[in-house]
Amino acid sequence: MSLTDGFGRKIDYLRLSVTDRCDFRCIYCMDEAPVFLPRAEVLTLEELQQIAQAFTELGVRKIRLTGGEPLVKSDLVSLVANIAKLPGLDDLCMTTNGSRLTKFAQPLAEAGLMRLNISLDTLDPQRFEATTRNGKLERVLAGIDAAQAAGFKRVKLNAVAIKGNNDDEIVDLVHYAREQGVDITFIEEMPLGVLNTDRRDHSLLTSDEVKAQLETAFNLIGTNENTGGPARYYRMDDSDIRIGFISPHSHNFCGDCNRVRVTTTGELLLCLGNENSVDLRLILRKYPNDIERLKQVIVDAMGAKPEKHHFSTGAETQILRFMSHTGG
Ligand code: GTP
Ligand code: 5AD
Ligand code: SF4
Repeated sequence: MSLTDGFGRKIDYLRLSVTDRCDFRCIYCMDEAPVFLPRAEVLTLEELQQIAQAFTELGVRKIRLTGGEPLVKSDLVSLVANIAKLPGLDDLCMTTNGSRLTKFAQPLAEAGLMRLNISLDTLDPQRFEATTRNGKLERVLAGIDAAQAAGFKRVKLNAVAIKGNNDDEIVDLVHYAREQGVDITFIEEMPLGVLNTDRRDHSLLTSDEVKAQLETAFNLIGTNENTGGPARYYRMDDSDIRIGFISPHSHNFCGDCNRVRVTTTGELLLCLGNENSVDLRLILRKYPNDIERLKQVIVDAMGAKPEKHHFSTGAETQILRFMSHTGG
């Protein structure tokens, strides 16, 4: 069995959000004082496992665990170990803020996690604290070191590029990535969740602007490399690392979309930039352990996957969900 949507796109990548909670409060991702979901609404480890099983039986080859911050969920390492045993999975990875990696990098690698993407928007401790509204840069840098020491197949850094926030650090971030020997991806901010400022009206930094800055310092060489995600990658002739660009505004990648998401509450989201969803938690709780029924609901949902997102720039928010609920 495999999953194909109404536009003939094969779906083989699941982004599974394991929690809406996080120890940071990044300015582009959540409110200063977010209200987290009641625990009973959040999928349990068993439910997450069943969802992962259903999707792999339907041909999904890549699962990325996201959040919130996945590592604030208790017993996450055991979930990773169980998902890693599912037949048919080529890639099991996680997106994390890095704050707990000194403790968890090694156990995660041993449990079978293959790759880690770690958010890093700035190398300035004060700015880091302001962007994350309380995070400690030092802990995340130590976490990046721990991830490398744990021997993952690949570690990648993610930086959300924002004018007035980190546009003067683009070249420095790449110098850091080169020194560490890790890939780095620059992301255009998406209008998810309502912010109580009009900052988004004037802070979009496009991938072309980021790339132009980088070209003053490095010789970028285009590639066709694909990690199954939306990034376009460049290389340099004097380093092994890749520089990626995720450009939902300026280079729409919806035509090649191969993924769906499941939120912390078990909504199957067919597109990050649309509100339509299917309630998998309802099925899981009404028909416990009925994997075949769950699979059928997932197959039937594919027809509702929209052709593309309709993000525009500016303060107008089209999607009311914050990334922390959706799963970054
Ligand atoms: P790789 O597996 O390493 O290629 O990672 P990835 O780029 O798929 O995942 P990652 O978690 O690093 O995502 C980086 C950013 O890309 C996050 O902000 C994601 O929300 C965003 N992203 C991933 N998939 C989509 C998508 O389908 N649409 C949009 N608009 N953004 C996406
Ligand atoms: N736009 C773009 N990226 C975002 N992330 C969180 N919120 C947004 C947003 N509004 C990113 C984080 C991290 C991943 C989980 O999603 O920086 O890399
Ligand atoms: Fe937490 Fe990641 Fe959102 Fe920052 S972007 S608040 S680290 S979930």
